[in-house]
Amino acid sequence: MIGRIIGRNVGEIVFRQSYKEDIKIGEILVADDKEKNSIFFLRVVDIQYGQEGAEKWGIKTAGDMLFLDEKEEKYGLREKERRLFKICICKPLGYIKNGRFHKPKTLPSHFCGIRRADENDYRFLEKYMGDIEIGFLRSGEKEIDVRVGIPGDFIPYHIGVFATTGMGKSNLMRVFASSTMKTGRYGILIIDPHGEYYDGNGGKGLKHHPLADEQLVVYSPNPSFGINRLKISAYEIGVADIGDIFSFSEAQKEALYALHSKFGRRWLVELYQREINELTEIFGKRIQDITFSVLKRRAERIMNSDIIHKDDEVSTTESIINNLYSGKVVLIDTSGLYEYEELLTSIVLARTILNKNKKLFRDKDKFFSIPPILITVEEAQRVLKNGIFAQIAREGRKFKVGLCAITQQPKLIKEELLSQFNTFFILGLADEGDRNILKASAKQDISKLEKEIQTLEVGEGLITYPGAPFAIPVKIHLYDDYIRSIENERVVKKTLSGEVDDNFY
Ligand SMILES: Nc1ncnc2c1ncn2[C@@H]1O[C@H](COP(=O)(O)OP(=O)(O)OP(=O)(O)O)[C@@H](O)[C@H]1O
Ligand SMILES: [Mg+2]
Repeated sequence: MIGRIIGRNVGEIVFRQSYKEDIKIGEILVADDKEKNSIFFLRVVDIQYGQEGAEKWGIKTAGDMLFLDEKEEKYGLREKERRLFKICICKPLGYIKNGRFHKPKTLPSHFCGIRRADENDYRFLEKYMGDIEIGFLRSGEKEIDVRVGIPGDFIPYHIGVFATTGMGKSNLMRVFASSTMKTGRYGILIIDPHGEYYDGNGGKGLKHHPLADEQLVVYSPNPSFGINRLKISAYEIGVADIGDIFSFSEAQKEALYALHSKFGRRWLVELYQREINELTEIFGKRIQDITFSVLKRRAERIMNSDIIHKDDEVSTTESIINNLYSGKVVLIDTSGLYEYEELLTSIVLARTILNKNKKLFRDKDKFFSIPPILITVEEAQRVLKNGIFAQIAREGRKFKVGLCAITQQPKLIKEELLSQFNTFFILGLADEGDRNILKASAKQDISKLEKEIQTLEVGEGLITYPGAPFAIPVKIHLYDDYIRSIENERVVKKTLSGEVDDNFY
């Protein structure tokens, strides 16, 4: 036994730790209650000092030691294993009785012994795990041989990935995309403003995935072998899209809508091509020339972008959506673009996907046959204010469109929007404000996990989603290792199925 329970209540259990043990925050331990024929799971949320006898004894002893230190005299402490100890404060996670997991509604017996959990204890978790594998279960710093994955059915209910810089967000997304490539059941759109997903920036990227040829499609403004050229037609850009990128006065907004109602899908091209006096003539004196001149400057900025084309036919949007509908990962490398171009690309794609799915929604059979689509955005706090991304967060679930918001600063996202996100990946988060907002919106109680979140190392995380028995601690796979294991699995499968094993020779 590594400890014995001393007391408290159903919300918090405290045990005395055996002197020899070194228990860490975040570890999940088991109280093996033979009397109740149950095992209770306890998560260590804090650790404190304890000593037998009066508190003054400790103060006095430390004083004596310091005194003897100064004199460089030797000393020992009698029965220190017996008198000194640590106290672990735990959050009860629940208990298993007769093979069923229950929420923590009862207490383990007095002085119940505590031990470390083994793999068999965690087997019950397997039925809560989904098909999109992320990593292994973690207890404190230790990895446990139980695979952790989230159910793909939750994709339309939105995913948030939160971590301070360098804690492993992009690695997690690469692992996530890899797992969906393995299943082929989900359409994942990744917008990559840093150009780090494809070739991996030194490590491995999505192009090294063993299934990349079949399951990955890449678009970029600078195409090369295996990469398609990203093109957007000016006709695809709506007035609302522009409104999400630039700020406009009321008069300018009115002019934009007037342009749209006059020219329809041609509004941007017309605004770009016509002279200001032509425009004021068409719209009478209703709209001032100064208004048009501001709008024209914006239109020129957009039209001068290399990815925007004046031709209605020239666009990659449809092929992008078809690839998503075929259950592929579509990577859009926007690293060579200005921020407004990157935003415009993601906004146009997001809106087109939502609208297309809305249309399909009316035809039950067709709608049934399309896979859930996930739109992934880095630095999501930039786009999750108003506009299309906020709209998807609110209504996407009905239309099988989910958002994956990756951010270092969840506190910059409105609480109301954050609460639409059902699955949270919480990695190390240094800022208290960021942790607090997540506490309020997570689908499991993480209020006592403050210290654990603070002390998470790179690649360690907590996952919360509806139906999970508790916030699941995970050690996320390192992408490079993960794809190697996928490759090995494929080789073994090929060999077992009697095909020639290319790698063998
Ligand atoms: N699961 C993991 N296991 C081991 N190491 C990891 C893991 N995840 C990330 N790392 C290491 O941490 C580094 C940073 O990871 P990553 O680029 O994913 O962080 P990030 O949160 O996306 O950072 P940024 O905020 O700069 O985008 C990686 O290069 C890798 O070496
Ligand atoms: Mg990153």
